[in-house]
Amino acid sequence: MTVEAIERRYVPRGAAREVFRRREREVLVFGPAGTGKSRAVLEKLHHIALLTDNVRILIVRKTLVSLTATGLVTYRTHVASEAFARGIVSWFGGSLSEPPAYRYTNGSTITVGGMDKPDKVMSSEYDVIYVQEATELVVEDWEKLLTRLRNGRLSFQQLIADCNPQQPSHWLKKRCDDGQCVMLYGRHEDNPVLFGEDGTMTPRGEEYLSVLDALTGVRYLRLRKGLWAAAEGIIYGDWRPEVHISERKKLPFEWERVWSVDFGYTNPFVWQQWAIDPDGRLWLELEWYHTKMLVEDHARVILEAVTIKVGRIYREDGTIDVARTRWKYPRPTLIICDHDAEDRATLERHLELPTQPARKTVKDGIEAVAMRLRLAGDGQPRLKVLRGALMKRDEELAAAGRPLGFSQEIEGYIWKPGPDGKPVPDEPLKDNDHSMDAARYVVAQLDLLGQFRVRTL
Ligand SMILES: Nc1ncnc2c1ncn2[C@@H]1O[C@H](COP(=O)(O)OP(=O)(O)O)[C@@H](O)[C@H]1O
Ligand SMILES: [Mg+2]
Repeated sequence: MTVEAIERRYVPRGAAREVFRRREREVLVFGPAGTGKSRAVLEKLHHIALLTDNVRILIVRKTLVSLTATGLVTYRTHVASEAFARGIVSWFGGSLSEPPAYRYTNGSTITVGGMDKPDKVMSSEYDVIYVQEATELVVEDWEKLLTRLRNGRLSFQQLIADCNPQQPSHWLKKRCDDGQCVMLYGRHEDNPVLFGEDGTMTPRGEEYLSVLDALTGVRYLRLRKGLWAAAEGIIYGDWRPEVHISERKKLPFEWERVWSVDFGYTNPFVWQQWAIDPDGRLWLELEWYHTKMLVEDHARVILEAVTIKVGRIYREDGTIDVARTRWKYPRPTLIICDHDAEDRATLERHLELPTQPARKTVKDGIEAVAMRLRLAGDGQPRLKVLRGALMKRDEELAAAGRPLGFSQEIEGYIWKPGPDGKPVPDEPLKDNDHSMDAARYVVAQLDLLGQFRVRTL
């Protein structure tokens, strides 16, 4: 049975129109934030699913959590809302053997999955696969997905993806430059929410673009201008997300843990838990990056993150009894802290743990971090970030286009420009540098002060 035509109000423009036309095997829509890239691809998928019976479509992102949290909202609230209301699409939450999917009454399905849990989605074949925020993937993920394209219900098969631009050396950019993948460029003018038909900005457009205009550095170039830009004067030039960000996994309990804290209220307060493996490598395991909370509230968030919920012991006043509660991770052997005396005292009181002031010299600390980011003889860096280490997105920072934690800050962390505007490799620009400071405190403590104590297993 084919679903009858549904009245649609979506009118694609520019790159969004191209999205509908293209039949090539690999297509990437890239561009700044908010141009309507994801909307266009989702509209195409929905359109295909409605028109042809028994089509199999897959939507994936690097992690399933990020997809369900943010990536499918547009599909549910705009693209398919009418079809939901009319019972033409329904949500199937998944079972032991089958992944979650949107099911159409004509037998078509849109399966959703994450490359972090590929088993269920990879056992099937598809006509079209949509990769959201494709720059998060490694090239092996991409190639694996291509092998799943062979369901044969359509006259074409397609891996279609969207992303904001990243560093110009990114594998996906190269793949497009080599001609393996078609690249479409989405512009803000394509989105009718932001620009009218005649090219004038809407009130919503003025509001949205003023946020993007306030961005600085490499984030401005990528999210406002849509350029595959590397930051000029970048401090940690060896940073490669595909190398330094590791798959999410449980790190052994036996590894030593150290914490680092950088205070802030209007700027984010940062807490990081680092694990040290038997080779002395540092792993960023947890990160709390949040603005506008009291130190005592941060302390509570931290303690809830590191202790086991079941059987957590609270006192009468509602605080966690740190000494008597069981911990999920080993207790930190060091807590290295930003210097603010009052904040430090408050934090110590609420954590019920002692802290140590950080060594604050900047330049040697940066050099020590840079050393760790370089690949060692085994092809691995000596500092890694676990994917998903960030405990929660600070939505207010996200709305302002500010970085959210270590792996976003590091790409825009640059040297302060000198009088001629050129960056001078002497002093970092004091902007979006909070995770950078916290990480530097830990590395300085271990590598410059030699406080390096690997537990013997
Ligand atoms: N042609 C369009 N008509 C109506 N709304 C649109 C259109 N294109 C985009 N939008 C809306 O603009 C917002 C941003 O679009 P989105 O696809 O999320 O942007 P991007 O993926 O480029 O960041 C969404 O709420 C989307 O529904
Ligand atoms: Mg998008």
